[in-house]
Amino acid sequence: MVSIQAETYPIHFNEKAYNELAKHIVENAYSSIFILVDTNTIEFCYPRFIQLLETDKNIEVIQIDAGEVYKNMETCIGVWNAMTELGADRHSLLITLGGGVVTDLGGFVAATFKRGIDFINIPTTLLSMVDASVGGKTGIDLGVLKNQIGVFSNPKMIVIDPEYLHTLSEREIRSGTAEILKYGMTHDKNLFNQIKDNLHLNIITLIHRSIEIKNTVVLEDPLEQNVRKVLNWGHTIGHGIESYFLENASKENLTHGEAIAIGMVCEAFISNKLLNFPKEHLNDIKNTIISLFGKAEISDQDVPYILNYMKHDKKNVGGEIQFVLLENFEHFKINRRVSNVLIEESLMFYSR
Ligand code: GLY
Repeated sequence: MVSIQAETYPIHFNEKAYNELAKHIVENAYSSIFILVDTNTIEFCYPRFIQLLETDKNIEVIQIDAGEVYKNMETCIGVWNAMTELGADRHSLLITLGGGVVTDLGGFVAATFKRGIDFINIPTTLLSMVDASVGGKTGIDLGVLKNQIGVFSNPKMIVIDPEYLHTLSEREIRSGTAEILKYGMTHDKNLFNQIKDNLHLNIITLIHRSIEIKNTVVLEDPLEQNVRKVLNWGHTIGHGIESYFLENASKENLTHGEAIAIGMVCEAFISNKLLNFPKEHLNDIKNTIISLFGKAEISDQDVPYILNYMKHDKKNVGGEIQFVLLENFEHFKINRRVSNVLIEESLMFYSR
């Protein structure tokens, strides 16, 4: 599988990626290597990783608790302290081995430690392989507000090893498919159809194509001034739902993918109303997402709370919520304003 060249770093695939990693470590003469894991990846991914990692450097492992609720400043302080106590210097390398929380938080920790040290992402979930680990966004949550604190900082390399996917539950795999569906709707309808037909058929090809799409977008607009906003398709409403469900004890827990899948149904509804996105595609999206993810309980009483969380979306300008909308599959518009009434209607469309 061919490597993909991102702005300043390569993305390597499968076992040959470990040779590139070993070469990179030798060429850069790092003083020491830190591996950031969480309570899941230390058990299920680290044994494979350490067996495949070839280096004679000193290695230290730093473990954080697994889960989105730990993607915060307290965890960062713990990691910075551990690195300091273990003698990390400006020539140390941080390898992040985990899902989106580990790669986002680890990248942020590395980008800010002693004004920035090198880091390499080894994503272990489908979601972080196709999205979180790629594109240089690093950061943490502020309370339940997602990714409010962070910096753009590119890793030195990404290693995509699909073997780690075997450690995931079916639910976690499905969560990642939401991001692949996103690329399908915005850039390549074939991807959307392939997920519908059989996700497991050729997962590495789907991952490779997703990264290719994301990389093309990021190369054009690395700092999300314009076209990169398309990658937030489904996320404007999706993040509002995710934060609301996270904070509300009476609501079931939703994964990131499940929340943005609902967001894509709602935003497809709004696209139909405002940009004539074809009705048959709207129905196709709703049916596909409900058959893949099931249906979450959202009532009209939830709407004001969801709207409230949406006020903190990073695309907002001057307090106005900005949407990505679709005219058709593969044809999108950014910076669209949408009334609260239409957002409410879209949530009710999902629910009925
Ligand atoms: N996850 C969206 C982006 O990286 O821009």
